[in-house]
Amino acid sequence: MRKTFYIETFGCQMNVHDSEKVAGTLVGSGYRAVESAEEAELVLYNTCSIREKAAQKVFSRLRNFRKEQAKGKLFGVLGCVGQQEGEKIFDAAPHVSLVVGSASYGRLPELLRRLEQGERRVTGLDLDTDETFETEFTQRGNPFRAYITIIEGCDKHCAYCVVPFTRGPERSRTSESVVAEARRIADAGYTEIQLLGQNVNSYRDPAARVTFAELLAAVAEVPGIRRVRFTTSHPRDFTREIVEAMESHPALCNHVHLPVQSGSSEVLRRMARDYTREQYLERIGWMRAAKRPISITTDIIVGFPGETPADFEQTVTLLDEVGYDLVFSFQYSPRPNTPSLAMEDVVPEAEKNLRLRVLQERQKQIQLGRYQDFVGNVEEVLVEGHARENQWKGRTEQNIVLNFTVAEGGAAVQAGDYWKARVTHAGPNSLVGEAEGGPVARAAIRGAAGSPFAILQ
Ligand code: 5AD
Ligand code: SF4
Repeated sequence: MRKTFYIETFGCQMNVHDSEKVAGTLVGSGYRAVESAEEAELVLYNTCSIREKAAQKVFSRLRNFRKEQAKGKLFGVLGCVGQQEGEKIFDAAPHVSLVVGSASYGRLPELLRRLEQGERRVTGLDLDTDETFETEFTQRGNPFRAYITIIEGCDKHCAYCVVPFTRGPERSRTSESVVAEARRIADAGYTEIQLLGQNVNSYRDPAARVTFAELLAAVAEVPGIRRVRFTTSHPRDFTREIVEAMESHPALCNHVHLPVQSGSSEVLRRMARDYTREQYLERIGWMRAAKRPISITTDIIVGFPGETPADFEQTVTLLDEVGYDLVFSFQYSPRPNTPSLAMEDVVPEAEKNLRLRVLQERQKQIQLGRYQDFVGNVEEVLVEGHARENQWKGRTEQNIVLNFTVAEGGAAVQAGDYWKARVTHAGPNSLVGEAEGGPVARAAIRGAAGSPFAILQ
């Protein structure tokens, strides 16, 4: 009988993909995935500590399982909270017997063996590594979008951020192994790839002189791959070469996520972001001048220590100046080990909350205006499944949700297909349209997003 496991994932896409690789490693070590924690002998939480709320969620989850249900099960805490709290997790949650940070995932088979041999407190917490986590098997959870990690960790040390402490130093994979994985993914029938990294554009091939832009081009040229996305980009390392690669390779999706964090150069300086508002806008200018329109999205933190009303106003005006298609905005959350923890002029919670609401309201208006400009356009979408009866949910190349209908008598739609749709309506968060013609390309992989994992080598 195979041992059973269940993984619950919190946090970013890097974590989602780490879980896919951890699941692959477990399957390779003789485990079998089950659909709920209740059924599993080994329950793993892959955790996020980017903001305090995210970290708290993990502890409340762990508490849920403390008593009866925990009997006979093994629990493990993976990822950023595991790395950050280390052995303290054993005190807070005595039923946990495995704590592993992402920089130690390469040691998982060994750590699992020790667990199986009866050790009750197993940890993998070394941060100082030059290894990346490459797995023989990756158990992919999304049948349409395949993730590939190209760079792990972070050396940027922004003043507010835990990532350098939870994910370790920056280390890139060889371009050869990235392209080989892209080919395997294409052979398995995937048409969309998303390259992942804390700062993808800080990528440096450890074996050859391949730049990030050249890597993008190489992945875009893999036969069978129709869409290539990449996230997240850091403004400091964002080059014109990336925009040029997007211009000359249609498979590179016309979308860039470029977190700005603040529109005030003074706040950016204190955040140690290493660019000014003007330098950021220069990069936006390159994209706005590109031969095909590029959709731009961002992350913003409001209420960083010392952020004055005038600084905040600069962030609001930046929204107008750039015209983002989506903004992820957060109240500043003080995190352990980070330099901003000791900074003065803390912005009160109520004020942070107010600023967040003002920012989100402004962005909603901007977004509505931008989405309305799509009305009348014909966009190609990758179909993910049903939005509701008779309506399909797809994503445009810009990653915008477009729900569409097919006229009576039209061809049957299947998840994973590409269709063209004419946009008829726009809301602040999605577009609505009608199919034009039949499918442009059909899915090679069947099933709806979230269906049982596809196993890939
Ligand atoms: N407080 C609030 N938001 C944060 N982020 C990172 N660290 C913090 C923090 N301490 C946000 C940034 C980053 C996104 C992933 O999370 O905007 O780009
Ligand atoms: Fe959260 Fe950052 Fe860790 Fe991702 S890398 S899980 S965002 S703390």
